[in-house]
Formats: sequence, C-alpha cells, structure tokens
Amino acid sequence: MKIAILPGDGIGPEIVAEAVRVLGALDLKFETETALVGGAAYDAHGHPLPEATLALARQADAVLFGAVGDWKYDRLERPLRPEQAILGLRKHLGLFANLRPALCYDALVQASSLKPELVAGLDILIIRELTGDIYFGQPRGRRTAVDGHFPGAEEAFDTMRYSRPEIERIAHVAFQAASKRASASGRPGARGKVTSVDKANVLETFQFWKDVVSAVHAQYPDVELEHMYVDNAAMQLVRAPRKFDVVVTGNLFGDILSDEAAMLTGSIGMLPSASLDANGKGLYEPSHGSAPDIAGKGVANPLATILSVAMMLRYSLQQPQAAERIESAVQAVLAAGLRTPDLWSEGTSKVGTREMGEAVVAALAGAAGDALRSGRTMTRIKS
Ligand code: IPM
Ligand code: MG
Repeated sequence: MKIAILPGDGIGPEIVAEAVRVLGALDLKFETETALVGGAAYDAHGHPLPEATLALARQADAVLFGAVGDWKYDRLERPLRPEQAILGLRKHLGLFANLRPALCYDALVQASSLKPELVAGLDILIIRELTGDIYFGQPRGRRTAVDGHFPGAEEAFDTMRYSRPEIERIAHVAFQAASKRASASGRPGARGKVTSVDKANVLETFQFWKDVVSAVHAQYPDVELEHMYVDNAAMQLVRAPRKFDVVVTGNLFGDILSDEAAMLTGSIGMLPSASLDANGKGLYEPSHGSAPDIAGKGVANPLATILSVAMMLRYSLQQPQAAERIESAVQAVLAAGLRTPDLWSEGTSKVGTREMGEAVVAALAGAAGDALRSGRTMTRIKS
C-alpha cells in the first residue's frame, strides 16, 4: 500500500507531520512518498499541481493532504492559485464523494459555541458532492452584459449544473452510509435518516437534485428521507443539530454547511474529511484551511488531520481496527485535558501541535495518562 503525502501550505506541513507520526506508530507497513502541492509547488515549479504530484496521487492507494493557500498568491491568475491544486486533484482523481463527519467529543462539549445540551452526543455526517455544481460548471468568466439590470456593463458569471448520474451516485453514497450507521448503532429498529439539502424553491438545478434524490430513495426503503432548503438547514444546524443524521448536498452548499457544522464540535480543527472516488480510493484532509496567520508557530490543532488518517485506514486501506485505535487515542488525549489553543479553556492544558501529536502516539501505546501527567514529553505552552 502506498500513501502519497501532500503537506501543502501554511499549517499544512506541521499538522501533516503529526499525522505521519501517528501513522508510523501503528506497526503497519506502508510506503509513503511526499510531494509539493499548492503555493509551495508554485514557488518551486511554477504550478500548484505539478505533473509529478498528480502522477504520484494517481498511483498511490490513498492521499494524505494538508492544506493549500496563502494570501500572498491572491493576485495570481486563477489557474495558478494554490486552491486549484485541491480542486484539480478532486477533478482528476474523480473524488466525487466528500464525507465530513461532525462529532462532538464528550470532553469538548464546553468548547462548542453552542450550549452543551444542544451538542452533547452530536454525531452527524455531511456528504458533499465534490466534483460538480457551480464549482466546476462551464461556462464561467467575465464579459460585457448584453441583458440584465445593466446592459453594457462588465459582469462575471458562473454556471450551476448537475447531471442525473452525478446526483444519483452521491445519493447512493448517502443512503448507504445512513443504512450502515443505523445498523452500526446497535439500537434495535434504528432507522437511518438522510436530509437532502437543496434550494428547490428557487433554483432549477436543485429542483432536479430533489427529484433525483427522491427517485434513488425508492431503492432504500429502510432509510428515511427528508428534504430541506439550504437556508433552513443552516438555521436548524445551530438550532437543533442532533436532529440530523446524514446530510447530503451539492458542492457549494456542502462547503458552507460543513464549516458551520465544524463549529458545533468545538473547533474546525477537529473535523476530518474523506474524498472518495467510485472505487474507494480517497484523498484525506482536514476540513479546515491553511491558516497562514498561525503557520510556523507550532500552535495548530493536528487532530483533524490525525482523524483524517483514521478515515483513510477505514475507507481506503481496509484497516478498521487501526482507525478505531486512533479515534480512541484522540478521545483519550482530550479526556486527559490536552488542548491546542483553538480549544483551550480554563482548567485544561494548553499544548502545541507537536505535543498533541506526541500525546496521541503515547495514547496509542496505552500510556496516555502517564505520558501526559509526567510532563516529560510535553513542553506546555504558557496560556
Ligand atoms: C474546502 C475548501 C475548498 C473548497 C477550497 C480551499 C477550494 O474550502 O475543502 O472546503 O471550497 O472546497
Ligand atoms: Mg470549505
């Protein structure tokens, strides 16, 4: 099994280093190869997704991705901007299904910006379609308006579009995930629920989305389906988030709602993601970005990336037990009170990126408590 490691920009290299440390502590044999991506690749090779990086990602069994982007590239023409690297990887590798689980760990109930009673036990899965919608729809560009409110004026436009097969395949992923979650819950008679988020009251694309999702639902009588407009979904996510189980939506709405859902869990620094193709090959990345403002300071939260490694073990490398070990280790370090600054509150221990990674490794070895209490492996950051 070969894993392509693409650390990228900003905090990417720091958090990926900790995820690789955790991967290395598992006693499993993987080949890894690292390549530049994003602004780092542009600086070295003049392109955010060099041929060699794409080729490595193609031949690997899984890709571990950090983050891309920095304000200093904002003036480049769009095809050369760092974000094109992740968009290009998604497109070229056919990674159409993006899974973003938002889980509120018991230890972090207080870290959420919502009241503890709203988020305790939260466990939702956002499934975002990742290779279609207005993100990739053609035509797009700038031109002189021939109609509209200001004919003759300069204007910009993008195209929102979805084809039936694109909607069908993401709907199948959602119904299957809901069905699996219900049987894994162990609750007798548990029924999975899919909330399909659209804007069918205004947009043709999303009336079609709603119709196609409903048609696919006929094949999954064991799963409940509800439809919700995206504005209402944004509201319900902060009003009663636990009412959701699996949420399926398009690329743009999914981008927005998954950031919102991340905050329910305490910090976007906790949210892993998997982007899968039709055969289970995947790219795994934290849902947060490159955070150039804190890059190089050793304070970024590596847990979303470490949890992305767990998703990689589960979905692409067929190592579900190793995935569970990592998830339990993360739970253990949080229960022991370790917090990176994004999660820190009075009464918890503030640690940096590296200390957090080392603590997860110690917890994997079953020595969480000892390693943490002794303080020997820990250089605590002053709060
Ligand atoms: C994400 C990010 C990306 C997106 C950016 C970096 C292109 O926000 O993965 O959610 O919009 O998909
Ligand atoms: Mg986003």
